[in-house]
Amino acid sequence: MITNTELEIIGNQFPSKIVSYEKHIDTFNFFTENGVTLKVTILRDSVIRFRYSTTGIFENDFSYAITKYANSGYDILEIEENDDQYEITTEKLICRIKKVNARISLFDAKDKTLIIDDEIGFHWEESYEHGGNVVKMSKKSRKGESYYGLGDKPTHLNLKGKRFQNWVTDSYAYGKDTDPLYKAIPFFTGLHAGKSYGIFFDNTFRSYFDFAHERKDVMSFWAQGGEMNYYFMYGPEMDKVVANYTDLTGKPHQMPPLWSLGFHQCKWSYYPESNVKEVTSKFRELQIPCDAIYLDIDYMEGFRCFTWNKEYFPDPKRMVKELLDDGFKTVAIIDPGIKIDADYNIFREGLEKDYFCKRADGPYMKGKVWPGQCYFPDFTNPEVREWWSGLFKELIEDIGVKGVWNDMNEPAVMEVPNKTFPNDVRHDYDGNPCSHRKAHNIYGMQMARATYQGLKKFAFPKRPFVITRAAYSGTQRYTSSWTGDNVASWEHLWIANVQAQRMSMSGYSFAGSDIGGFAEQPEGELFARWIQLGIFHPFCRVHSSGDHGAQEPWAFGDEITDIVRKFIELRYQLLPYLYTAFWHYFNDGVPILKSMVMYDQEDIQTHYRTDEFVFGDKILVCPILEPNSKGRRMYVPKGDWFNMWNDEVVEGGKEMWVSSDIETMPIFIKSGSVIPKYPVQQYVGEKNIEEVTLDVYFKIGTEKSFLFDDAHDGYDYTKGKYSYRTFKLLGKEKQLIIQQHKSGRYDADYKLFKIKFHGLPFEIDKIQIDNVEIDFKKVKVNGDNTLIIDKDFTELHIFSEDK
Ligand code: GLC
Repeated sequence: MITNTELEIIGNQFPSKIVSYEKHIDTFNFFTENGVTLKVTILRDSVIRFRYSTTGIFENDFSYAITKYANSGYDILEIEENDDQYEITTEKLICRIKKVNARISLFDAKDKTLIIDDEIGFHWEESYEHGGNVVKMSKKSRKGESYYGLGDKPTHLNLKGKRFQNWVTDSYAYGKDTDPLYKAIPFFTGLHAGKSYGIFFDNTFRSYFDFAHERKDVMSFWAQGGEMNYYFMYGPEMDKVVANYTDLTGKPHQMPPLWSLGFHQCKWSYYPESNVKEVTSKFRELQIPCDAIYLDIDYMEGFRCFTWNKEYFPDPKRMVKELLDDGFKTVAIIDPGIKIDADYNIFREGLEKDYFCKRADGPYMKGKVWPGQCYFPDFTNPEVREWWSGLFKELIEDIGVKGVWNDMNEPAVMEVPNKTFPNDVRHDYDGNPCSHRKAHNIYGMQMARATYQGLKKFAFPKRPFVITRAAYSGTQRYTSSWTGDNVASWEHLWIANVQAQRMSMSGYSFAGSDIGGFAEQPEGELFARWIQLGIFHPFCRVHSSGDHGAQEPWAFGDEITDIVRKFIELRYQLLPYLYTAFWHYFNDGVPILKSMVMYDQEDIQTHYRTDEFVFGDKILVCPILEPNSKGRRMYVPKGDWFNMWNDEVVEGGKEMWVSSDIETMPIFIKSGSVIPKYPVQQYVGEKNIEEVTLDVYFKIGTEKSFLFDDAHDGYDYTKGKYSYRTFKLLGKEKQLIIQQHKSGRYDADYKLFKIKFHGLPFEIDKIQIDNVEIDFKKVKVNGDNTLIIDKDFTELHIFSEDK
């Protein structure tokens, strides 16, 4: 007879002594006495992967996050062994592994300083209920250490002292500190003693991070299942850490079409067609630039995906074309829930092909979303993704919709306590069958991926544009993203600012918030302040739930309309600058928004700043986050900065008051910068650009600036048809030289640069272009410090003769 009915609680278990190791090319396996294997793989000199198995058997090595395009290769790889430890050395890192307990310490290979050290290191608890283990890791946290990253957490940028959860969740009207939200990005950057490193915990189960919250000298992370599997990356510069992470999990697969960096207008919902047209016509009438108009769920027939409500939209193809003729791209929403309806072809097809998710014991996963009761495609099955991508043919190829908005893909389920699928739902997981516990965090990502594949196919030869709400690490390869259902409040303006910066620091630059707030209605002042911030977010869209009143730029009176127009115009002027920053993100993984700490990690003043950030690499921005403000205090990082509004130069490295009434916001340009600008257009491609303005901000010394250009859509740039210009500025007391270097084979239609000098400390008496003196009066405009010259100059030299 069995009498003990209580479970034996074993608690935490630990690796014991390492007894041997073996090496296979770039991988070391260390074996402990109690059967644990630690697998250390050197991906690059600055990137090391650590995997642990408690049985000696590893799971199939499959990840949705890691891209096959990641760079690999190292210059140095050595291992040494003594009585106490193993020591693996690369060009950048030294990794010590203690024999007695398999604990790990990482050091900078150059100056031998400690970067991070295991506390109790890897440990695990067996999961009686689900099988497998709860896998855990703890590392020491040192005095002055700071932590950043983790995707969309709506909290102070520096995560120190806090605990977080990664579980993709529909979070209508969330607030400051709500956790978790819509994204699971288990990647953070640590900073200690001026050196920055990153950890990416590639485990899709519900996971947790504790940044010295429970114990002030310990940081830890753990997950409810799967493997302890993490990547360590080293900078020591923070932007390099993020670039390493972005390289590993993927840069966007292509440049965005330039129009997608324009302004977008959205509401739940614009319908019928006449309402859509009213909105778009008003933009043109009021001359407020706009490139995209969105159709929310009401365009569909009973919220059935891939259908149209013919009463509201009798001829979608004609409408989409008319909108396009007026410069508007149409973006339509597509959700994952497929209405249970025997007369609905997509439902029938999904059923016949066995594409819907099922519960553990066989029934379909049934849940309520907008259309009522639905089944949900298993996007983790490659065949389902292929089918789904094919469904976009009519919408994109035939009707001409230019972008798709994926929503509710957490997946969100209404009227159930956990807001999503139950844990027992089964998924294919690309041939690694599992339950929803493992697939939940990547479900939305796989939906967005399938959507992306559809757009890529049917929008060809144009580039796809997708936007998603749910995301896991790596989703940035396929789609842009927004921060979900926020609220029209000043606090949410603060949250939007933090979230966009944090996403950028988490490898996901192409993101933005619902400008003005989704729930409730902003007053005009809040709306204007939000637009001022939003034009500096890579994804720039106004969206609202619509049931609280209008949220178009003209809904708040003429004064606000004029401010909004002025800032959207600034966005359009800065498009070449933003496109260039996107190129640096696309090509090198450099975040488009740089928080103060990333901009200057050596300055400890930056470690706890949240509001200020650098847009691209030259423009410092600080939103006004309170009503009735006439300005604010802000930190200006070291160096000289030009106030964009009046060209006054301030010396940074300190906090200062910056006046800024409702018409302006604090915007500073780094001295020495060359900022490319387009003329204002009502939409991308409206005008044939005849000249590009270069705003040149004087500096004594040197500074490099860049300008990327190509056809703004299509794929020719992948074949070298782009141009990448580097401007090297050298300023002296009485002269200024700008050298231009161009690479790539694209030649834009425009022939001229209009060069505007700011802060020039001397009168221009003489000009040389490519060493030839030219008649000053011929190139000078309006008697001010503006020249119009051929865009292909190699050296522009201006002097004062007053020596
Ligand atoms: C969700 C989305 C929101 C959308 C609404 C209706 O709440 O987050 O953006 O407007 O659903 O589709």
